[in-house]
Amino acid sequence: MQGTVSWQSPSNIALIKYWGKHGRQLPRNASISFTLSHCVSTTEMTVDTGGSEFNLEFYFEGQRNDAFGARMEKFLLSITDKLPWIGNTTFKISSKNSFPHSSGIASSASAMSAVAMCLVDIDAQLQGKSYLDLPLASELARLGSGSASRSIIPSLGVWGECHITDSTDDYAIPYSDQVDPIFHTFHDDILIVSASEKSVSSSAGHQLMDQSVFAAARYALANDRLKALTGAMKEGDLETFGSIVEDEALTLHGLMMCSEPSFALLEPNTLNLINAIRAFRKDTAIPVYFTLDAGPNIHLLYPDQYTTEVGKWRDEVLAQYCEDNRIITDQVGHGPKKLK
Ligand code: PMV
Repeated sequence: MQGTVSWQSPSNIALIKYWGKHGRQLPRNASISFTLSHCVSTTEMTVDTGGSEFNLEFYFEGQRNDAFGARMEKFLLSITDKLPWIGNTTFKISSKNSFPHSSGIASSASAMSAVAMCLVDIDAQLQGKSYLDLPLASELARLGSGSASRSIIPSLGVWGECHITDSTDDYAIPYSDQVDPIFHTFHDDILIVSASEKSVSSSAGHQLMDQSVFAAARYALANDRLKALTGAMKEGDLETFGSIVEDEALTLHGLMMCSEPSFALLEPNTLNLINAIRAFRKDTAIPVYFTLDAGPNIHLLYPDQYTTEVGKWRDEVLAQYCEDNRIITDQVGHGPKKLK
């Protein structure tokens, strides 16, 4: 086959975090996340599958990038057991993000899920299949970056074996029809406290968990929280939802601070924002909550019906704590989209 496919795929924000892995990128606990809408990667993949060996040219944001290319080559050659045709294919891959590279937003979930969608699309064409194997796409994305497995899923995805649904450690599955529809309307405004890449690389972070004295308690807690969180989401109980999501974000950072070596990624303005969010919620009774990734930036979560009040306060009060007043507004979205 000679041809080009192109897919756009979003980032996601975990509500219950994946932190700790084993084996071939398998999670130590189940996780759940909102799939976003505006923070996307677009990948164009041109292939000639009829060659005798593997070849790759990789472009990032329009420029040839051999460092990213080497990582992509390692990934592609690691999944030839799943897609044997990769071994004799010539690839030209171009990738770009809708959000700036140095925005403190991890791009691995959107980037690897976009690559996985391209691969599964090509595989379907090679096999003459009229449908895309989405569990395989999620599995391939997972092998690239664990959290990317969830970006394949519209709105709300669960990844990892657990008691609440029949998800597996291999790939993520949809969960959005099991929650109150208010959660389909959620916004995630990303308050950029610092755009520099201070976050612990996630592979280093997952490794820290192997030595953590809290490891066993953490994995049990994550599974208990997943059960409580999904129960609250089913009931539309925003207060319980928010309290679990915030505890979970602070637990992630607590684990990092208490690991050996220790990482303190929260900046003074992260804490200023947390205090401002809690004060606003207390004063107004508006259900607005925060979560964090493995970095200092706050993700502000709230239902669509409060956009006007939250938007005004966000711009008047919260923006001052952000680097150059930067805020990236996003919301729950529909998952990957085929462009070509
Ligand atoms: O997918 P990775 O290996 O980059 O790990 C992601 C870890 C967190 O973003 C901190 C949590 C998560 O579940 O997305």
